[in-house]
Amino acid sequence: MSYNNPHDKCSNLPNEQDSDFTRMIDKAMSRRQFLQGSAAAGLGAFLMMSPVARAVAEASAGDKAATGSKLMGFKAVPISTADTVVVPEGYDARVLMSWGDPIVADAPEFDPSGKPKAADQERQFGDNTDGMTFFPVDDTHAVLAVNNEYINPELMFAHQGKEMTAEDVKVSQAAHGVTVVALHKTDKGWAVNREGKANRRVTANTPMAITGPAAGHKLMKTAADETGTKALGTFNNCANGQTPWGTYLTCEENFHGYFGASDENMELPAAMQRYGLNVADNRYQWSKFDERFDMAKNPQEPHRFGWVVEIDPMNPESTPKKRTALGRFKHENAELLVNGDGHVVVYLGDDERGEHLYKFVSKGKYNPDDAAANRDLLEEGTLYVAKFTAADGELKGQGEWLELTHGKNGLTPENGFEDQGHVLIHARLAATQVGATTMDRPEWVAAHPNKKAVYCSLTNNKNRGKEGQPVGGPNPRENNIYGQIVRWMPTDGDHTQNSFDWDLYVLAGNPAVHKEGLNAGSANINADNMFNSPDGIGFDQAGRLWIQTDGKYSNEGDFAGMGNNQMLCGDPETGEIRRFMTGPVACEITGLTFAPDYKTVFVGIQHPGEDLAPSHFPAGGDSKPRSTVMAITRKDGGVIGA
Ligand code: FEO
Ligand code: CA
Ligand code: CA
Repeated sequence: MSYNNPHDKCSNLPNEQDSDFTRMIDKAMSRRQFLQGSAAAGLGAFLMMSPVARAVAEASAGDKAATGSKLMGFKAVPISTADTVVVPEGYDARVLMSWGDPIVADAPEFDPSGKPKAADQERQFGDNTDGMTFFPVDDTHAVLAVNNEYINPELMFAHQGKEMTAEDVKVSQAAHGVTVVALHKTDKGWAVNREGKANRRVTANTPMAITGPAAGHKLMKTAADETGTKALGTFNNCANGQTPWGTYLTCEENFHGYFGASDENMELPAAMQRYGLNVADNRYQWSKFDERFDMAKNPQEPHRFGWVVEIDPMNPESTPKKRTALGRFKHENAELLVNGDGHVVVYLGDDERGEHLYKFVSKGKYNPDDAAANRDLLEEGTLYVAKFTAADGELKGQGEWLELTHGKNGLTPENGFEDQGHVLIHARLAATQVGATTMDRPEWVAAHPNKKAVYCSLTNNKNRGKEGQPVGGPNPRENNIYGQIVRWMPTDGDHTQNSFDWDLYVLAGNPAVHKEGLNAGSANINADNMFNSPDGIGFDQAGRLWIQTDGKYSNEGDFAGMGNNQMLCGDPETGEIRRFMTGPVACEITGLTFAPDYKTVFVGIQHPGEDLAPSHFPAGGDSKPRSTVMAITRKDGGVIGA
């Protein structure tokens, strides 16, 4: 591949970045030491606080001392409940493409009648835009790979999903997966090129290869595929990742929701229940019209989903590969970096209440001079799961990565793990066996460009405090309604090390409603930047942390003053967080990728008007609301966020 990949740039940052970051850690440390010193010198009240209150007070005073980010040059936008996208003064937000837009020259335009056809949808942009990556070709050409996570039957069909037919299920399957589309630069900016050679749809029916340690495993075999190596399709593609060898990673999240059983008395094994599989299939109804999704007839089919899939976006003839070495769970994204020693490290969240955070380390090493040799680096390696520790009530501490290798850490036949394929297919059970920490729904993971710290949004968790999900460490709030972002610093900046230090970058909250306590949020939260349920996160090259939300948009009660879902920008050094964008009615903001000059950012507006909320985004009037990718630029042509 001759184009530049954003990750190559990230791994070649000047040392200056490192020293800035070291200064930041030093500064944070000295603030804490100062505060602890003051307390010891006579602030008795401080010592009498509970450990949790003390930790918040520390963060609080520290962050208030350091406002005025040098990283961010835009003026914050206020909250919004309007049915539109709002960006800062001096910025433009333009529609790049919406659900149903044709992606090849001979495809029809979007049909708003509520009677869509599968053959059309297979050549149009899928629904519910999510994670995406911009792959540059040259200064004026690129390829965009975009996930299409799910569908809203109430918007897609005139019958709102109440009278599904076999054809409707085919439409639904075609609206899932991934859209790959060429972009070209016009005088208005980046635009879709329907003539692009790379343009393709990957859907719930696209042939895929199953690769890695679980390929061919007996749990992967079905009547249609006795080899256990050939799956059909990918769906519920949530967030994403990209590799320095030019491929796209799409992550299968809530796959359980597409299966059902024609035998309502079918008893599902505990391992299938752990993944949320259920005989009822009321939302998508695929199992009623496509036997592949009927577990009574194909009980192993669900094992073939819940993986990370690698796609070559430049070759529309290539077969996507399910990379089983990265484990099977409800994958959010796949944050891939090349460690200092050349091993490829991928951080992975499993988004469910009380599930876990994972790390994969490749067996082989990345070779920048041999593209072909890198192609199968995700084929073989070691999977780990995180265990966090902290002193009682502390919002920082240490952690370790526990190896998920058959024969180690109790992953033995006596405990139900027959081989490595079994460990990976039932990764959640393996994580429990080794004693992993239950988390508040790990969503996206993002590595700071200097690679010394990695961030993960923990979006919310109403079950925190219930059985098996103790309050503490990075999950400090019972019935966590606001979410937080945890970050960890691998020992010696080496991502292959099994130990790390961690703290919280932000504890979201509502200081206007909750005057004190953890629900007021950490000190970098105030009445002007409140949000809930951080989800999509990602860094740009300068180290700005972009935060997207998938939260409650009622703007009432605990969520009063937060408005519609939004995108914010955070300074990792000062802790400052500033609102950059607000979305339309009943949407989630998810998916972001930058052009290599960082002067265009692509942002996803997912499911405006879900549950028939009153949205007509983006076309307005009385039009049907449609998930949409926006291209955001600065009027003066400058770098986004600067
Ligand atoms: Fe698809 Fe966890 O968000
Ligand atoms: Ca998400
Ligand atoms: Ca979410």
